[in-house]
Amino acid sequence: MKFYKIILSLLLGVALTGCFYDNKEDLLTEMNEGGGVPGPIGCETDSISYSGFIQPLLNSNCRSCHRQGSANAGIRLDTYAFVQATARTGQLVGVMKRRDGLPLMPPSGALDDCTIAQVESWVKAGALEN
Ligand code: HEC
Repeated sequence: MKFYKIILSLLLGVALTGCFYDNKEDLLTEMNEGGGVPGPIGCETDSISYSGFIQPLLNSNCRSCHRQGSANAGIRLDTYAFVQATARTGQLVGVMKRRDGLPLMPPSGALDDCTIAQVESWVKAGALEN
């Protein structure tokens, strides 16, 4: 009977440890939700700024095809006002996630999940010129 008790407490121990790790992951996901959009574990979606993150990202991935003189689909992403307008229609994140039948942008291949979550977080926070 004593043997059974040992086995039982070992099993219980394993079960509790399992729960502990599950909770830890939940906790991390919740922490990432501070910016309003949950990103992958370890992806910081809080306090995304236009000048520090959005503008450089669009400059290197979108601007070549969406600027004055070369505005594919009539979309410009070379000034804050244009970026804000595109964010408000839902197209900015929409094309990155290929939502609602929109074409995937950039056409060469999707940005990574964390980057998209960061853009989405900035849009949800009001697409501010911060
Ligand atoms: C290599 C050129 C190129 C790059 C780089 C590029 N685009 Fe585009 N984009 C296009 C073309 C061409 C279209 C029109 C395609 C279509 O309608 O199928 C388009 C269309 C769009 C549209 C309008 C979609 C619609 O149908 O409403 C948006 C919004 C957009 N792009 C955003 C972006 C964003 C954001 C990036 C960067 C993450 C980006 N694009 C990068 C060429 C590009």
